[in-house]
Amino acid sequence: MLTSHLKRRAVLAGVAALLARPPASLAATSALVTPGQTEGPFYPVAFPADMDADLVRIKGQAALAMGQITHVSGRVLDHRGEIVPGAMVEIWQCDANGIYNHPRAPGHARHDRGFQGYGRTQVDAAGRYAFRTIRPVAYPGRAPHIHFKVHAPGLGRLTTQLYVAGEPQNATDGVLNAIRDRAARESVIVRLEDASDIEPGALKGTFDVILSI
Ligand SMILES: [Fe+2]
Repeated sequence: MLTSHLKRRAVLAGVAALLARPPASLAATSALVTPGQTEGPFYPVAFPADMDADLVRIKGQAALAMGQITHVSGRVLDHRGEIVPGAMVEIWQCDANGIYNHPRAPGHARHDRGFQGYGRTQVDAAGRYAFRTIRPVAYPGRAPHIHFKVHAPGLGRLTTQLYVAGEPQNATDGVLNAIRDRAARESVIVRLEDASDIEPGALKGTFDVILSI
């Protein structure tokens, strides 16, 4: 009787110890929160008539954007690695000549009329977003980058920037290097690879955005 009572207590203690420990799966998926970055001076003052997820082609226009077509996609996740239903992702960037479609941008009059410059999309049921845009290029003082603003409805938003792996300017870009933690800094640097499987001559990269919510 006493033995079975002790055995039962031992089993219960074991169960309690297991419950007190965070599940390995959760701990393993706990992700590094994407660092915030400045919005910069060129967020649109007026949204374009076409602001879909394809920045390469403007609806109703024959001309495509100049530059190398690049497919950027990923997921929006919370800090536990769970998807964020209804999240909305905005991106904006300069054209292939380094000029933003923004009235205060240097050289604005010469911006590429075939490049949408700004786009937005909502994540799908699996938490994924996808943009068709151009490979970002450098402009004076900045490494190539794409601006991101990610909205989690009712929960908050994150403004950040995506950089391209292997770009020499990454070493000296003041905005990028203001992220002092190396792992956090590397989390916004994306490797672009051949995307001929999607369309000839294109590139693709994956950028998951991890929110602190
Ligand atoms: Fe910028």
